[in-house]
Amino acid sequence: MTEPTGDQRAHGEASGALPTVHVVGLGPGGPDLVTSGTLELIASIETQFLRTERHPAAVVMPDAQWFDRLYETADVIEDVYESIREAVIRTANSYGVVLYAVPGSPVVAERSVQLLIEDPRVLTVVHPAMSFLDLAWARLGVDPVALGAKLVDGHRFNEVLEEVGEPGALGDCVLVAQCDTKFVLSDIKLASDLPLAETVTVLHHLGLDDETVFSVAWEDLDRSFEPDHLTSLWIEGISTRRVPQENLIRRRFGRP
Ligand SMILES: C[S@@+](CC[C@H](N)C(=O)[O-])C[C@H]1O[C@@H](n2cnc3c(N)ncnc32)[C@H](O)[C@@H]1O
Repeated sequence: MTEPTGDQRAHGEASGALPTVHVVGLGPGGPDLVTSGTLELIASIETQFLRTERHPAAVVMPDAQWFDRLYETADVIEDVYESIREAVIRTANSYGVVLYAVPGSPVVAERSVQLLIEDPRVLTVVHPAMSFLDLAWARLGVDPVALGAKLVDGHRFNEVLEEVGEPGALGDCVLVAQCDTKFVLSDIKLASDLPLAETVTVLHHLGLDDETVFSVAWEDLDRSFEPDHLTSLWIEGISTRRVPQENLIRRRFGRP
C-alpha cells in the first residue's frame, strides 16, 4: 500500500490500485474551527460524504450526502457504522477518490473512521482536525496528560465501571463524552452507589455562540439541564473523594 502524494491528495486522483478515502474532521464548533487544509480538500474532491448533518460546521459541505437516516432505522449502532463504511467504499470503487467527513477530529471517538482504516479494500488517508477535547482542556484549564485524565463514553459508563472494578480505579478525573440524553445522565449518576464527586462540570456547546460551562451537584446531574449531542462532562477528584464514615454507615445499613 502506498501513500498518495500531496499532489494526488490535492487533486483527488486515485492512488495506485486502491480507491482512496480522504477522511477529514469539521472541528468541534462552527466553520471558524475547520482547518484550511480541510477546506481545500472539500473544494478539490467532488464526491463527498458527511457522517451527520447535525453539526454546526455542516454548512461548509453543502454538496455532501449524509447518513442521518441510518441512525433512525438501524437496530444497533454498530450496523450504522458498517453501513457507512460500505457506502463510502462502494462509492470510492466507482469514483476512485471520495471525501468522508466527521464532526471534530476523525481520530477521536469515530468508529466509522476506524472501520475504514482497518479495511484493506481502500486506502484511507486521515487528515488531522481539532477535536472537542482541545476546547474542553482549554476551558477547564487542565493538561490531561499531566493529570492522567481518562476518557469515557457516557453510553458505556456502567460497563467501564464494571471493567475497572471500583470507581477509584478510574483515576482522579474523567472526561465523559456522548452525554446526549437525560437517560444517559441518569445511568452515570446511578452507576455507583456513592457519588463520584460533589459536583460535575458540564461542557455544553463548546466553540459555539451559546457555549456554557457550569457546575451541577451530583444528585442534580439528570434533572437540572437539557443535554444534547454536544454535551460532555468533567468529573474531578474521584480517587481522593472521601465519603464521611457516617454517610457510609447510613447507606450500607439504611439508617436514617
Ligand atoms: C462521537 S463523539 C465525536 C467526537 C469528535 N470526533 C471530536 O473529536 O470532537 C461525540 C461527542 O463528543 C462530545 N462533543 C462533540 N462536540 C462537542 C462540543 N462542541 N461541546 C461539547 N461536547 C462535544 C459530545 O460528548 C458528543 O456526544
